[in-house]
Amino acid sequence: MGKTIGIGLLGLGTVGAGVLKIIETSEGRNPLVSNLEVMRVAVRDISKKRSINISPEKLTTEPKEVIDDPEVQIVVEVMGGIEPARSLILRAINSGKSVVTANKAVIARHGDEIAKAANSAGVYVLIEAAVGGGIPIIEPLKQSLGGNRIKKVSGIINGTTNYILTRIAKEGANYKNVLKDAQDLGYAEADPAADVEGLDAADKIAILSGLAFGGVIKREEITTKGINKLEEIDVKYANRLGYGVKLLAIAERVEQLKERNQSLPLALWVEPTLISNDHPLAGVNGVNNAILVEGEPIGEVMFYGPGAGSGPTASAVVADILNIAGIKINNKGEATSLDPLLSAASWRECHLVNQKDIIQKTYLRVITNDSPGVIGAIGSIFGKNHVSIESIVQFDASEKGAEIVIITHKVKRGQIEKSLNQIKGLSDVLQIASQLGCL
Ligand code: NAP
Ligand code: HSE
Repeated sequence: MGKTIGIGLLGLGTVGAGVLKIIETSEGRNPLVSNLEVMRVAVRDISKKRSINISPEKLTTEPKEVIDDPEVQIVVEVMGGIEPARSLILRAINSGKSVVTANKAVIARHGDEIAKAANSAGVYVLIEAAVGGGIPIIEPLKQSLGGNRIKKVSGIINGTTNYILTRIAKEGANYKNVLKDAQDLGYAEADPAADVEGLDAADKIAILSGLAFGGVIKREEITTKGINKLEEIDVKYANRLGYGVKLLAIAERVEQLKERNQSLPLALWVEPTLISNDHPLAGVNGVNNAILVEGEPIGEVMFYGPGAGSGPTASAVVADILNIAGIKINNKGEATSLDPLLSAASWRECHLVNQKDIIQKTYLRVITNDSPGVIGAIGSIFGKNHVSIESIVQFDASEKGAEIVIITHKVKRGQIEKSLNQIKGLSDVLQIASQLGCL
């Protein structure tokens, strides 16, 4: 082949260093890798000690210099954050350069603007690394599952929180210490609140849903509950009932609600969820992620693998670079019409349903006085609101009160809220201590 494709990196942190490492060690990889050459790299601090060698003249603190460099043909944005990442991606597109990005925060909020700009400039913006780290999930949703009517996309899509929950469950590790380990391993976001508050998972489910259901998702409408509020006692009770707890992101069609003006009703949410020990997601541990896609006619498929970290994420970034590089080499670098399966386009409208219409099984922990009849009174309120109960168990009664744990069958969140408002009014009820999802 012998034709160099110039790469410009915006960022040389966990992911950027992983990408450079793959490109610089091309032996034994797809022959196209040896056609790639990193020409310029933008960083914040040139004097910083790095895990990988790079000739200092390639470094700049001015990202625009990378984009505008005539030797750079593909811009790889791995710096993170919303701005200046969004403006830099648009600048690259407007200069006729394709972009590869791992930045889910910017794609979840500005993906539509970026995709439109890319389509009109005739360039690609590929985002495989933005969801699921090294797991191929973006291209399968765009291409391999394209013939399906997707019903549901759900799973564990944040590596940091799965790593934390696994170490707490298996070793009884301390939350703060394990979060620090996840940061040291390069799994966490620059501000780890994005991981533990469920915001990163919400970015990712917005992106997956946009591709799976074909319409733009308003990121700001997605409700999130993170693991930062999860109490150890709930994990303990869940274990005693045969469940583990994982941070899940879920997106599904709400079949019961008719399509409004052709707009597809979707329920999307992120929350710590009880998963029964025999569920396929129960065995997904550590930094691994898994995404379940349910479609018609395929049924259910699961994508599993490392969800964060330098090597796995760089693997996904380089796959996208190779897709674009392959097209450039085949077309001798000349601009052609875009491959519609590689480029992203919305083809219908979707809207998120009111939270009250989300239908799910729910785990509740209620603290009450240890008085006779309290379980009956709670059960009767649920009954009046048509909430059927799978199990109701009293744990740890003491002078301070009794802990009553309830798992409901699948009902609308609105019915649960109405019941809880009435339960709060019972004289023996001291507190609704927890409310979690349950599979
Ligand atoms: P990181 O380790 O913090 O690296 C960020 C890099 O960008 C650093 O090299 C930093 O320079 C540079 N940078 C940041 N702001 C800059 C600016 N304004 N101008 C010039 N350079 C700037 O982050 P990361 O973990 O590699 O993540 C990068 C992106 O990938 C994020 O969008 C993240 O969400 C996404 N992602 C990460 C993972 C993962 O496992 N880490 C997985 C999937 C996706 P300095 O080195 O000088 O500070
Ligand atoms: N902070 C993210 C995670 C990186 O832990 O999943 C991968 O997107």
